[in-house]
Amino acid sequence: MARIIGGLTTSHVPAIGGAIARGLQQEPYWKPFFDGFLPVHAWLEEVKPDVAVVFYNDHGLNFFLDKMPTFAVGAAPEYRNSDEGWGIPTLPPIPGEVDLSWHVIEQLVARDFDVTTCQEMLVDHAFTIPLKLFWPKSCPVKTVPICINTVQFPLPSARRCYQLGQAVGEAIRSWDSDKRVVVIGTGGLSHQLDGERAGFINKPFDLKFMDSLVSDPEWATQYSIHELVEKTGTQGVELLMWLATRGAVPGFVRKVHTNYHIPISNTAAGMMALECLD
Ligand code: DHB
Ligand code: FE
Repeated sequence: MARIIGGLTTSHVPAIGGAIARGLQQEPYWKPFFDGFLPVHAWLEEVKPDVAVVFYNDHGLNFFLDKMPTFAVGAAPEYRNSDEGWGIPTLPPIPGEVDLSWHVIEQLVARDFDVTTCQEMLVDHAFTIPLKLFWPKSCPVKTVPICINTVQFPLPSARRCYQLGQAVGEAIRSWDSDKRVVVIGTGGLSHQLDGERAGFINKPFDLKFMDSLVSDPEWATQYSIHELVEKTGTQGVELLMWLATRGAVPGFVRKVHTNYHIPISNTAAGMMALECLD
């Protein structure tokens, strides 16, 4: 059966794509952010995953307000990148792991998660930038994208996203394959791009949340979506992707590395790498 080697979570601010394209990783503004990934590169070299299951949120590229699935799973042989208006470079298509996609979809539907299945799916910065951050040279993994709506209310609850993660983790572990799978969650941490609170960041909450993912992973499921918006900003709810990731990487974990740097653009940029010990 397939093995889950761990979970990776990171913010996905579009400006990171511009910084990579212009080679700004060593500039004072960017260095504390990019340096946070170096220990994770070393770990990935060691554990060598074959597949990445990626929880991310589309920002109006593949799904718009007229048709907005709560949960959508990609089942395509490749995912084309497109940019919904940030002016960042478009990356080459990313290969999909179709066999795992369908296995995950079947297992989720059997467990009453009524997901949308996508045999074509454009992916935005939330999917591509984290892959570039974790594998700057070339991406060695095939992927399964899982999109969680954080754009149009009503959003799925934190508890439901955690449960989705648990079901995805069980599906991965029952996949008849000897592949090594890493689970990735992209988004967050606290940020608000619009309205009166634009620029809002809540460092104490972010740090508590990051801690909770190591030893008390259900901690954030106590909060309603409105409480999460209040505590983390309108786009801070992207932390649901982190919660789903931890749901998929159950039991005890080892903290490989974490980084927290504020701000990158309008965002508290967080990153965690957790190794699965179960
Ligand atoms: C920013 C953050 C995001 O999560 C996003 O999707 C777009 C922009 C930002 O801070 O600039
Ligand atoms: Fe975002």
